[in-house]
Amino acid sequence: PPSEAEIDAIVAAHMSMEGPMLPILHALQAAFGHVPQAAVPRIAQALNQTRAEVHGVVSFYHDFRDAPVTGRVVRLCRAEACQASGGAAVAEAVMQTFGIGWGESKGGVTLEPVYCLGLCACGPAAQVDGRLHGRVDAARIEALVAEGAA
Ligand code: FES
Repeated sequence: PPSEAEIDAIVAAHMSMEGPMLPILHALQAAFGHVPQAAVPRIAQALNQTRAEVHGVVSFYHDFRDAPVTGRVVRLCRAEACQASGGAAVAEAVMQTFGIGWGESKGGVTLEPVYCLGLCACGPAAQVDGRLHGRVDAARIEALVAEGAA
């Protein structure tokens, strides 16, 4: 797990920013893949806020997780071009198949929204475990998840 020194270094690096909370949380998430529980009291103290306030921000934004993800991460593009090319229907079908909503995990699969993956010309676009895929449909997503799980 991330050490207190690592957490403190990230907090300190953003303290001079105006409204440092979100930059700190983003930096922690980028460094560790989640916002470690241990960071909450340290951020609260540094920003002179309560733990509940910091926790509230972490849980309000779907971008942040409070534990490392395990299993497959499916990110579906919800930005305009992909919506225009059928992204919503793909998302709907994927949610049905895996029985999860946005930001949820079940059976080793996590579904996350993402807003443009730079593949707008070949939407609907998806990212499965960090790899980009264009023109996906639900069957393709299922296949990619199954592949990754093998
Ligand atoms: Fe989906 Fe750009 S809008 S990749």
